Amino acid sequence: MEQATVFLLVLTLALGAHGLSPKKCSLMGEWINDLGSTMKILAVNGNGDFSGTYLTAVTATTNEIKESPLQGSLQRKNQKGQPTFGFTVNWTFSDSVTVFTGQCFVDKNGKEVLKTMWLLRSHMDSIENDWKATRVGINIFTRVPS
Ligand code: BTN
Repeated sequence: MEQATVFLLVLTLALGAHGLSPKKCSLMGEWINDLGSTMKILAVNGNGDFSGTYLTAVTATTNEIKESPLQGSLQRKNQKGQPTFGFTVNWTFSDSVTVFTGQCFVDKNGKEVLKTMWLLRSHMDSIENDWKATRVGINIFTRVPS
């Protein structure tokens, strides 16, 4: 085979393989959930650690809502482009903490979606009230169009 033909063959195979590789889901960027809450996730480092900010649309308190920091961890082993993760929001305007855990999926339309579950722990003044301290729920996040 001529050199030029070999080159074209290799190029075609390389481009074909690239085109077939499935889209990966990345946590970085701005997201909105089904409640209208938004979050911004900054860079994810080599260990999978990330940070960002969360602006909730709702609150279990009567306090004025303020943007709050989040700290998270992305699992990097055997994730096939759809990684699991967890993050904590330490609310600046209340005495509660929420932990989220979920997975970053690419749906059938090629859109990235974060399917999460959360636990919201509210502060209780006595141990007798511990039974009512934790709420649980799900949130689905999609990218804020840029
Ligand atoms: C609080 O009310 O003490 C802090 C705000 C909690 C907001 C919760 S966290 C789970 C759910 N998902 C959201 O986007 N907001 C609520």
